[in-house]
Amino acid sequence: DTISSISQLPCVVGVCRYPLGMSGGQIQDEDISASSQWSESTAARYGRLDFEEGDGAWCPERTVEPDSLKEFLQIDLRSLHFITLVGTQGRHAGGIGNEFAQMYKIKYSRDGSRWISWRNRQGEQVIEGNRNAYDIMLKDLEPPIIARFVRFMPVSDHSMNVCMRVELYGCEWLDGLVSYNAPAGEQMSLEGQPVHFNDSVYDGAVIYRWVCIGLGQLTDGMCGLDDFTHSHVYNVWPGYDYVGWTNESFPNGYVEIMFEFDRTRNFTTMKVHCNNMFTRHIKAFRQVVCYFRSEADWEATPLSFSPVVDDVNPSARFITVSLANHMASAMKCHFYFADTWMMFSEITFQLILSSNRMVSSPIPSPGDDPTHKIDDSNTRILIGCLVAIIFILVAIIVIILWRQVWQKMLEKASRRMLDDELTASLSLQSETFAYSHNNPSSSSAPSEQESSSTYERIFPLGPDYQEPSRLIRKLPEFSHSSEEAVTASKAPTATFAQDGVPHYAEADIVNLQGVTGGNTYAVPALTMDLLSGKDVAVEEFPRKLLTFKEKLGEGQFGEVHLCEAEGMQEFMDEDFSFDISDNQPVLVAVKMLRADANKNARNDFLKEIKIMSRLKDPNIIRLLAVCICSDPLCMITEYMENGDLNQFLSRHEPEGQLALISNAPTVSYSNLCYMATQIASGMRYLSSLNFVHRDLATRNCLVGKNYTIKIADFGMSRNLYSGDYYRIQGRAVLPIRWMSWESILLGKFTTASDVWAFGVTLWETLTFCNEQPYSQLTDEQVIENTGEFFRDQKRQVYLPQPVLCPDSVYKIMLNCWRRNTKERPSFQEIHRALLESQT
Ligand SMILES: *[C@@H]1O[C@H](CO)[C@@H](O)[C@H](O)[C@H]1NC(C)=O
Ligand SMILES: *[C@@H]1O[C@H](CO)[C@@H](O)[C@H](O)[C@H]1NC(C)=O
Ligand SMILES: *[C@@H]1O[C@H](CO)[C@@H](O)[C@H](O)[C@H]1NC(C)=O
Repeated sequence: DTISSISQLPCVVGVCRYPLGMSGGQIQDEDISASSQWSESTAARYGRLDFEEGDGAWCPERTVEPDSLKEFLQIDLRSLHFITLVGTQGRHAGGIGNEFAQMYKIKYSRDGSRWISWRNRQGEQVIEGNRNAYDIMLKDLEPPIIARFVRFMPVSDHSMNVCMRVELYGCEWLDGLVSYNAPAGEQMSLEGQPVHFNDSVYDGAVIYRWVCIGLGQLTDGMCGLDDFTHSHVYNVWPGYDYVGWTNESFPNGYVEIMFEFDRTRNFTTMKVHCNNMFTRHIKAFRQVVCYFRSEADWEATPLSFSPVVDDVNPSARFITVSLANHMASAMKCHFYFADTWMMFSEITFQLILSSNRMVSSPIPSPGDDPTHKIDDSNTRILIGCLVAIIFILVAIIVIILWRQVWQKMLEKASRRMLDDELTASLSLQSETFAYSHNNPSSSSAPSEQESSSTYERIFPLGPDYQEPSRLIRKLPEFSHSSEEAVTASKAPTATFAQDGVPHYAEADIVNLQGVTGGNTYAVPALTMDLLSGKDVAVEEFPRKLLTFKEKLGEGQFGEVHLCEAEGMQEFMDEDFSFDISDNQPVLVAVKMLRADANKNARNDFLKEIKIMSRLKDPNIIRLLAVCICSDPLCMITEYMENGDLNQFLSRHEPEGQLALISNAPTVSYSNLCYMATQIASGMRYLSSLNFVHRDLATRNCLVGKNYTIKIADFGMSRNLYSGDYYRIQGRAVLPIRWMSWESILLGKFTTASDVWAFGVTLWETLTFCNEQPYSQLTDEQVIENTGEFFRDQKRQVYLPQPVLCPDSVYKIMLNCWRRNTKERPSFQEIHRALLESQT
């Protein structure tokens, strides 16, 4: 009975695909960690597949850069596992999130110290990830991983925000085998063609003619075929599945393979999958002799086993070797040649699992049998810990010394280095922007000389000094026109530009796209949960009572129409400050989802309705009714007779001589202030709910009777304002002139960035929207200026004080544009300050 039956085949790949507990919760929060987190609500523990808690996923603190692999999500499985499949998902957060990893790499470790980059059978590391924020992408790991720790590392070919939810699938690796060391597989010449029997997926060291401290083909769960020149695996060389040796290289007549296990185990059998194509001089082994090591020493008496040499049946087979309940933590076996060649594709071990098999960390729990052995290993662990502590202390001392030395070096030499670094990166930048500078080289280089002290202040320690210049380097990447940028972002451009549709929906720098083109307010998941407790308090409106007037905008999934609605009065409740005489049709904005929109867009649309229906403030546009009983889905919001504030102000002029002559309608300064105060009030309401608007601007404020203002959200969908949005090479379309530096550079949108946008909106209001913010700067220069805001070396350009604007109000604007988000005023404070400025 040397040949095991089919049912015992330990070729596990097909069956070992159980979720390991990210989505099921068996993996504890404390076993999920990450390189960094964007916020508490996007911590590592939210990186569970199919979970919607927190803000919906794990998100690293920084955007993922093309050539850095700094960010990772790490899972500790507490014991070795055989992992055959991984699943990834982005951050959907009920339609608010849209970040995902388009690609990722995996690193794994069996001991927590040696990390190995996973490669597929073709040697590629990068795994294709998600294409949207909601679908789960499952990827078979070929070869599978045997590890305790797994890291997911998002990868990108351009700067982007990434969030991930993940799951691992597989089963526990009960072998306990952590490595095998063997002579490297050899090469056979078959009909003049070389056949390689090397261990192609070995993850340890491959030293000349020897492989060690790793696992590979012998444990990848894939058994070779009867004919070794063929393989299950597509597109690999002949002999791929086997590791093979010829007796010519082994004068002793055997191949020694050493196996090391995580701890002392009680072994019953070893199964070796061998090729037996005797017609090609390949046979299973003639004899195997195994030596065991349980403590420090090798046992004197080996175990020997001789299978029946089979030269009848050429099929590959498992040979089962009884190990007779030997206790061992390591084993070396001599496999004797039965013919010129010996080829193995898989070796597995069967063992008796002790009662404490679930205790996988090296420290036994108190409930364990206090046998001598465990005591012994406790002492060893104690010694190990002490050694580790000593190491850590030494490391700390070294680091302290190193820092001191480094700081001294910084004082003396780094100024020089920083300058070089900066000049280098800036010269790159000035080339990029050369067309827009009159004299870039002479203007930027000398001023850098004085600025290094600022760097030392912001980034006082050595390794960090690269940080700002890295960001500066990032800048040209944003630009349309630079050569570098075009090549850097070629891949995404090519794929995104194909269909010509404006894609905001890629999880790039930021995502502003709502369902119909307008961006929905960004709501933290927490608020969403609070809101969803109640039912949606809007009613269905009879579609036939809507009369189309004008298209206000268009987005990927829908359109916004200006309509007249009859009988809308019945849909407005008493707290509604909308004075309309009976039976008069009212102007409404109708956001409409295209009938062919996919299910997720529909869900997002319904979510948006839910959110909108909760917003009740005199300065926020109200959701009046919906048409959700039939397609297309519609959302009917108020519209104000005077249109948006941008158009309104453009039609008006300040009071004064000029207006008298031109006979144009005027708006007094106090009414401008009144309108600005209302915007601040509406924003105060939004911020009190932790809503982030993301696109506050005069074009998104509507004007009613008597200068009443309501904040709306039509966003970039209107062609009229396409010039206000900057398209980053096939990526997001962004209102960069209204965006804070951290929104542009880091993709961070918060109430503080809304405050920044408010400052710009206030500026627009007081200039009667007669020009775009920074109209003298090109988009590229605006982004360059953003870099200056980040660097804060007093070279950033602020919007100038409008003629009408008193110092006290300009001070409010400047405070909104503070570099430090914490120093910016709250909307509450802005509101109060604006009220005060009017008295
Ligand atoms: C194994 O041999 C193949 C074919 O020559 C080669 O492409 C591959 O890199 C080798 N792999 C290792 C790990 O040596
Ligand atoms: C190994 O397991 C077998 C079967 O449970 C048991 O009889 C034997 O005593 C064990 N060996 C040792 C050394 O514990
Ligand atoms: C290798 O094995 C073949 C077949 O058993 C035998 O004829 C040959 O002498 C062996 N070579 C060496 C070097 O042992």
